Amino acid sequence: MAPLNVASVRVAFPALQSGFLFADNAGGSQCLSTVVERISDYLLNTNVQLGADYPVSISSTSRVAEGAEAARELFNATSTDEIAYGSSSTMLIENLARAMEADVIEGEEIIVTGEHESNAGPWKKLAARRGAIIKIWHATQLSSAPNNPYAVGLQLDSLLPLITSKTRLVAFTACSNILGTVVPVAEVVRAIRERAQELGVRKVEVCVDCVAYAPHRRIDVRGWDVDYCYFSMYKVYGPHTSILYVRSATLRALSSLAHHFLDVSDKPYKLQPGGPGYELVYGCTAVPPYLRSLTPSGDLGDAFDAITSHEQALLTPLLTFLRDQADRGVRIVGEEQTVLARVPTVSFVVVGDRRIDSKDVVKAFDKKGDIGIRYGHFYAYTLVDSLRPALNVDDGVVRISLVHYNTVDEVNKIIAVLKEVLA
Ligand SMILES: Cc1ncc(COP(=O)(O)O)c(C=O)c1O
Repeated sequence: MAPLNVASVRVAFPALQSGFLFADNAGGSQCLSTVVERISDYLLNTNVQLGADYPVSISSTSRVAEGAEAARELFNATSTDEIAYGSSSTMLIENLARAMEADVIEGEEIIVTGEHESNAGPWKKLAARRGAIIKIWHATQLSSAPNNPYAVGLQLDSLLPLITSKTRLVAFTACSNILGTVVPVAEVVRAIRERAQELGVRKVEVCVDCVAYAPHRRIDVRGWDVDYCYFSMYKVYGPHTSILYVRSATLRALSSLAHHFLDVSDKPYKLQPGGPGYELVYGCTAVPPYLRSLTPSGDLGDAFDAITSHEQALLTPLLTFLRDQADRGVRIVGEEQTVLARVPTVSFVVVGDRRIDSKDVVKAFDKKGDIGIRYGHFYAYTLVDSLRPALNVDDGVVRISLVHYNTVDEVNKIIAVLKEVLA
């Protein structure tokens, strides 16, 4: 596999030329110049309503259709009829929960995780409206680091006992935006479906949050056999808009949120009450070509392999440094032993006699003025709250989140600041 040419990667992101070290990428990545060019081109040249027969409208209609095709490719979905756009992932799942409402029976069970609330809150509200029951698949202690109580992760063994004959939906993250761990989605879905079949479940569906996964790994909704999958393009080098995959057969069973006179029974438009930002949808069409350009084969799978390999080279020195600070009170929150099933989103706390609040660690970085990192619970509130009493949800964790355009030199610069803070 050809290694990533990070120097040429960085040229594609004008913001990187400022020299600022962007290390809060799990909050939002930098945007490709080609995305910005397309947004601008749409607004300056084809900013008319879709669906009319005059030439500019024909052009805007086909540009928005290209946006659906870009999303289809990123999800590896079968058809653009399985793609809905929306202003945020949170809003898309809130809408999805409303569209599913009529098909949730009192007493049925919905399993959510303590991860980002976007894939929990809408289901909790749906359960409250329908008399369904919420169960939580908690992250539990990893055997790889028995001495670190913060080394937790989502483990299949903790999920399986939660599945009963009443399970209606399992909603989980493909990657935690705090722990950085990659969940083996295909394996988890297979186990859910097998157990559900054994128990004679009426209907079980799976909704996967790929927001923290999509910048780092190839999504494969078909191979994974999921019903719903979503992520936010502003974390994947694009604009502030989000995309949702809904399996065709599943889509038909959902209620429509669109106007009553629109015939949308098998169209994703039923989840888009009103048009998404068309210029943003068109802007997204620049993301797959960028990813394909990263390796000679032009294959998305190869691109993500190259990204993974470079990101693991970023992770290794950072994880090693943090692990070596155990005596100083540094505790990695999440898997600490291996970079293999991990993306370069690294969270930690400083505990013990010389504890340092997460906000004070970040303050030291902010004072430098040229590095962006962040502290908090990052909306994975239940996960962080479950790590009490040592971890306080207001202070949360320190999170350093890198992507493929970051360099090993940047990691060394971060480590140098950490050394000062911990001295
Ligand atoms: C893992 C994860 N899921 C969901 C979201 C929510 O995305 P949005 O801001 O598009 O609602 C985020 C945002 O940080 C996230 O990190």
